[in-house]
Amino acid sequence: MSNSSLHILITGGAGYIGSILTRVLLEQGFSVTVLDNFMYEQNSLLDCFQFENFRVIRGDCRDENLIRQLVKKADIVIPLAALVGARVCERNRVGAQSTNLDAIRLLCTQLSPSQRLLFPVTNSGYGIGEKDKCCTEDTPLRPISLYGVTKVEAEKVVLERENSISFRLATVFGLSPRMRLDLLVNNFVWHAVTDRAVVVFEGHFKRNFIHIRDTVKVFLHGIYQFELMKSRPYNVGLEDANLSKLELCHAIQKVIPSFVFFESPIGEDVDKRNYIVSNARILQTGFKPEWSLERGIKELLRGYVILQNRFYSNI
Ligand SMILES: NC(=O)c1ccc[n+]([C@@H]2O[C@H](COP(=O)([O-])OP(=O)(O)OC[C@H]3O[C@@H](n4cnc5c(N)ncnc54)[C@H](O)[C@@H]3O)[C@@H](O)[C@H]2O)c1
Repeated sequence: MSNSSLHILITGGAGYIGSILTRVLLEQGFSVTVLDNFMYEQNSLLDCFQFENFRVIRGDCRDENLIRQLVKKADIVIPLAALVGARVCERNRVGAQSTNLDAIRLLCTQLSPSQRLLFPVTNSGYGIGEKDKCCTEDTPLRPISLYGVTKVEAEKVVLERENSISFRLATVFGLSPRMRLDLLVNNFVWHAVTDRAVVVFEGHFKRNFIHIRDTVKVFLHGIYQFELMKSRPYNVGLEDANLSKLELCHAIQKVIPSFVFFESPIGEDVDKRNYIVSNARILQTGFKPEWSLERGIKELLRGYVILQNRFYSNI
């Protein structure tokens, strides 16, 4: 079957990951419909309208009638729509529950068993890992924040149905037309470029990272290798990027020598994230990330020239 006859529905397709994923799927020849409520007033998908098999619906992924209609035509569904991150979920607890979990339940009740579902989860669900022990997909999930709890619950719902894959994504970094500066690498590089310094809290806490282009690539890999991969979760991160925040700062300093950083007890991670992750399972399926952390830092450095905002300053 050619890609053009396959229809993909992406909820949250105008977000940080979705804005690149949508474009790449269209370039691969798929027909793509994006459902997004554009809550960040993003215009990141405008260049996708050159593809005639692209359609956007401005709407809410919690709208049962809308989902029923949209799901009918889809061969593959990628539900990215969510309130993403612990802080935004704390600020809107009802929205977090209804968007991150209830909407996924609703979607799963509307799908027929043969329709394929590819779902992203945060690997912050691993919470506080055991010292020097790698978390595999069999490690129990112990999410702490509401964000982590809703995503992990949603993953259970997704994996209970036939024809689903879940990707437990490391913290994503890199440039996207709908940029997120709140993600750790993006944030530290932003401070390195604009302030030349960061104050780090919980500097020894470790986590895993993955570039946004490799994140998009893993969804493509999941589509093409679906039969081999279905019914399982997969950790997705860089094997050589299980790094503490201080190690990340050193990596940034290698690229931006003027960058300085200090450690101070100024805050805490709501998710208590401190773990190292094994990505062996996804690598065994033939997936190979292409973007190193260093290459991503260099990309951010070059791209931030555009984002600098001097609107309210004369210098
Ligand atoms: N970025 C990461 O590091 C990361 C890591 C792990 C998992 N994920 C998962 O990947 C997915 C996408 O994350 P992202 O980084 O692109 O975040 P994002 O916030 O940029 O994207 C979310 C998108 O969902 C849309 N949206 C929110 N509520 C909606 C609703 N009720 N109806 C329709 N659209 C709605 C937003 O407008 C936005 O376009 C999320 O499910 C997130 O949990 C992301």
